[in-house]
Amino acid sequence: MVKPSKLLVLKKAFSGWPLSVGPAILNCLQKHNLTIEIVSPKGNFDEYINYICQNKQELKAEFAYVENHLKKGDSWGEIIIVKNKNKKIIASFGPNRTKKDKREKKRALPGYFSVLKKFRNKKIGNALWITGLKRMKKMGADYIKISVAKNNLPALKIYLHSGFKKFGN
Ligand SMILES: CC(C)(COP(=O)(O)OP(=O)(O)OC[C@H]1O[C@@H](n2cnc3c(N)ncnc32)[C@H](O)[C@@H]1OP(=O)(O)O)[C@@H](O)C(=O)NCCC(=O)NCCS
Repeated sequence: MVKPSKLLVLKKAFSGWPLSVGPAILNCLQKHNLTIEIVSPKGNFDEYINYICQNKQELKAEFAYVENHLKKGDSWGEIIIVKNKNKKIIASFGPNRTKKDKREKKRALPGYFSVLKKFRNKKIGNALWITGLKRMKKMGADYIKISVAKNNLPALKIYLHSGFKKFGN
């Protein structure tokens, strides 16, 4: 668990933000021969679960989530997966949901977001993150609030590039 003093809280409002995914994202996917697939909350999660289990050393938090989730038998949120040209998953983002807050505004609740180490630094994380945000906007989210470790520079850069602003002190 990261200490609160080492976390930054960031927020972004979705109003006025386009739903469509821009050409930079599509070009990035095409350049690396990647495809994005959406597993809907009622879909088949076997492929995602296998991916997380096969990479459990690297994807510790996701593995703990999947293990706990399977024990409890809860419903899944939407999960986005990125596949390479060999149809192998190399990145995932989810489960993503939305929830109404006390003011009746819909808050996006993003899940785990990661790219396998071998595939990092090619803007794949950025493409996946933007796709996930657009999906949560499509679910009707008004805003998204997240916490990130101050020293997680790759994630922080992606969040700031996508219009997140520091929230609170
Ligand atoms: C965060 C993560 C998904 C990013 O994936 P990625 O495909 O490498 O991301 P991108 O290539 O789109 O962008 C990474 C950015 O970080 C920068 N970066 C990478 N390593 C860095 C480092 N050590 N120090 C500073 N910046 C770094 C890149 O230059 C790029 O910034 P730019 O767009 O300004 O050039 C990936 O690092 C990851 O899976 N991390 C572990 C899980 C995690 O931390 N998830 C976020 C939870 S809050």
